[in-house]
Amino acid sequence: MSILLTEVSDELLGIFDGAARVAVLTGAGVSAESGVPTFRGGGGSEIWTWRGRPVTELSSAELIATDPKLVWEWFDYRRALLKECVPNEGHNALAKWERRFERFTLITQNIDGLHREAGSMNILELHGNIWRARCLRCASSFEVRECPLEDIPPRCFVCGGASRPDVVLFGEFLPEGVFDRAEEAAAAADLFFVIGTSAVVYPAASLPIAAKQAGARLIEINPEQTDISLMCDVTLLGNAGEILPQFLKERG
Ligand code: APR
Repeated sequence: MSILLTEVSDELLGIFDGAARVAVLTGAGVSAESGVPTFRGGGGSEIWTWRGRPVTELSSAELIATDPKLVWEWFDYRRALLKECVPNEGHNALAKWERRFERFTLITQNIDGLHREAGSMNILELHGNIWRARCLRCASSFEVRECPLEDIPPRCFVCGGASRPDVVLFGEFLPEGVFDRAEEAAAAADLFFVIGTSAVVYPAASLPIAAKQAGARLIEINPEQTDISLMCDVTLLGNAGEILPQFLKERG
């Protein structure tokens, strides 16, 4: 049964300080305080429909095959929303955590790139990155920062071919190898954090379960309890931007 806390206890600080191999899974909630809408839980999920179409259709493999222009227009709309967003204290704390442990892996479902902007280095982007495009001809992946986009679709830097957003769309598999490395980090962890995710989208949601089964302590941070809460050792009920910095506070 998970212990519910609203702030980081000294006992939890002790567990944190004693950990060697830490892995973290983040979701949309860690970016909520930066103004990025979430998909399901609290944090203002007004991103579900656009031009009257559901996000599951707009961000789908089917639509990129039949109407790539509309998919790019949808992603350009989201890029414009994200362009104004900056990392919050949650992202910043995780970037600092990276240097504290023998091994630290940040696994994110977010495509907003805010962890990288905060200075995190060892990041596994399970669902890709909205600021990158991938060539449909030579599969090169390249950064596209201009917003709004001048050309739709953006042309490949290498071969000039048409490109698509370098993100995982509904109905698609995760990028080769990235999930294997995430699974490996989860299985090796002695402390695993689940932060700002409803933990309903697989295979990402299987990672905390794999970590727990491999013997890791499981700590959740979310203002609401989720599908994974029962499996956690501790659930910290609160916002990531307020809770995460508490792990870095001065020790007595
Ligand atoms: N701090 C921490 N957690 C928060 C905060 C906050 N400030 N605000 C909201 N949350 C929590 C919500 O309570 C919810 O449980 O973040 C979670 C966000 O859940 P979702 O919107 O379902 O996002 P996520 O779990 O990342 O979705 C997974 O689904 O739609 C796809 O590809 C998309 O990567 C996404 C995947």
